[in-house]
Amino acid sequence: MINIRNILVLFLLTALVGCGKPPTSDANPLASMQVGKDYHSFSNPDSVKVNHIDLDLTVDFEKSVISGSATLSYKKIDQHATQLLVDTRALTINKITAGDQKLAFILHPEEGFLGSALEITLPADNAPVTIYYSTSPQASGVQWLTPAQTAGGEHPFLFTQAQAIHARSFIPLQDSPQVRVTYTATIRTPKELRAVMSASNDPQAERDGVYNFNMPQPIPSYLIALAVGDLHFKSMGERTGVYAEPALLDAAAAEFEDTESMLIATEERYGPYSWDRYDLLILPPSFPFGGMENPRLSFITPTVIAGDKSLVSLIAHELAHSWSGNTITNATWRDLWLNEGFTTYLTYRIMEIVYGTDRYNQEAVLGYQDLEEDVADLDANDQILAIDLRGRDPDDVFSNIPYEKGALFLREIEQKIGRDNFDAFLMQYFKDFAFQSITTDQFIAYLQSTLLMQYPDELNMQRINHWIFEAGIPQNAPMPSSNAFEIVDTARNNWLSGELKAKQINTANWTVHQWLYFLNNMPATLSQAQLTELDGAFALTASHNNEIAHSWLKMAVVNWYEPALPRLHEYLVTIGRNKLVKPLYEALSKTPKGKTFAQKAFAQAKPGYHPLTVKANEGFVEK
Ligand code: BES
Ligand code: ZN
Repeated sequence: MINIRNILVLFLLTALVGCGKPPTSDANPLASMQVGKDYHSFSNPDSVKVNHIDLDLTVDFEKSVISGSATLSYKKIDQHATQLLVDTRALTINKITAGDQKLAFILHPEEGFLGSALEITLPADNAPVTIYYSTSPQASGVQWLTPAQTAGGEHPFLFTQAQAIHARSFIPLQDSPQVRVTYTATIRTPKELRAVMSASNDPQAERDGVYNFNMPQPIPSYLIALAVGDLHFKSMGERTGVYAEPALLDAAAAEFEDTESMLIATEERYGPYSWDRYDLLILPPSFPFGGMENPRLSFITPTVIAGDKSLVSLIAHELAHSWSGNTITNATWRDLWLNEGFTTYLTYRIMEIVYGTDRYNQEAVLGYQDLEEDVADLDANDQILAIDLRGRDPDDVFSNIPYEKGALFLREIEQKIGRDNFDAFLMQYFKDFAFQSITTDQFIAYLQSTLLMQYPDELNMQRINHWIFEAGIPQNAPMPSSNAFEIVDTARNNWLSGELKAKQINTANWTVHQWLYFLNNMPATLSQAQLTELDGAFALTASHNNEIAHSWLKMAVVNWYEPALPRLHEYLVTIGRNKLVKPLYEALSKTPKGKTFAQKAFAQAKPGYHPLTVKANEGFVEK
């Protein structure tokens, strides 16, 4: 019999079952997945949760080793728990104590990229445990640079990169984004160097080789970061400044002088900045990412110092993480899109506020094209926002999907409910989950109790599930467009058809983004004459904009344009940012002569590459 009550029960059941869970047919491998479980950590935060770490570490540049102690304070969630499980990777554990008492421990066998579980028998009184340890010179999360690999050429340099699961290679800890800790650190370095961390930094601190830090807000382990080098500071605004080697300091401060405006703009839209200061640290060119949102101190590649602020969306991005990512964090790496998608959405919004809609439109089209490329190239599973990463190294799954697809999803919600309404939602979301780590499913449940209730005519669960759990870009998704690109399309077409010589194209006022759009949308195959003509008219081989050079060099590889090859070699041996070099190695690996070229460049570059860049590219140069 059908009655209202049955219908209601049915409706509730469907809503519950469909509540953000992946479809649960037997054929679906996700059916057995435990939502919210971190498959990339051996730790046991469900029974014992570390909540504070005190570090006392010495940085030894001669041995390429960090050694000292990490004291972990914790809370027993299960009062009967006797063991603390932490993650390590290639660490040497010397002893573990609680006060004067030595504690028993087992360092379990290594399990590939996950490293080794360290199992510690806890003291009866729940006192903090101190682990005395040292890192391996090959620690996956640390790069040691010789003086020759720095801008100044006189002093060595060290930096860490913990995201996603490399903190365990330099600190024994519960290396899961759902465990948040406050920390203090004493870092001992050679006297002439300065240490900085993702914590309170004092630019006035005397350069005496002993530096003290405090991070009073609870952060996930992947945001713990350290750098040591000949670092100097220049203020850019009331709350913003830049640390860099002296040779780069002025150029960096000029390039990123809008950081303070970005900070203010973001606060106006999304609520107060929670982290006190926001400084940038400019790394040597081997830094494997564009940027890393280490709290209070984003780590930034020098490859975006273009001289014209054309690549500063990177700063907007890392700054935006102070809201989306650092205050609300993904609970597992499956939920990375909650970090990167929201941040990419915010990046676009910040860029629009600070630099105008024209620039926003251009950047959005380029981002959309990156996404289209990944949708064409990646396996279906890897196109899913809430990706199944079980058994996989998160480093191997880096793509535009969590970024651009995540941002596009949010853009669609914005367009459906209105910008101001969506901003109000985001501001509240950042507040409601501040200093928490959440899963995709928690986000969906939150959407259900907020926007889906408020805007039942504009939004529906089916569409949202489609965005989050299915491959590809849903039909009728927002499609960015830019008027500024129309003239570029016309110019390219007229040149390709022979109507116009390259020199006749009026490029005088083209933005870097127009150039990128011009190059990225060329046909795959061009003749030597065409490449020579472009290069002659626009000096592309000589371009100092690293993004333009990247696009051009990729075309040069695919079409084997020899005049650009010396520049390509130089590019590959001086830049270690994986996003810029990997596509070039990949393109080179497709032909025998390309591969030989790549092998030579890689062999020369490898000593200066970060372990992540080595790992990501060595497959392309295998004999
Ligand atoms: N947090 C990421 C970098 C990251 C992601 C490291 C996943 C390890 C695992 C950072 O905020 C980022 O997204 N960097 C991008 C910036 C770009 C999208 C503006 C990069 O490095 O290219
Ligand atoms: Zn990011």
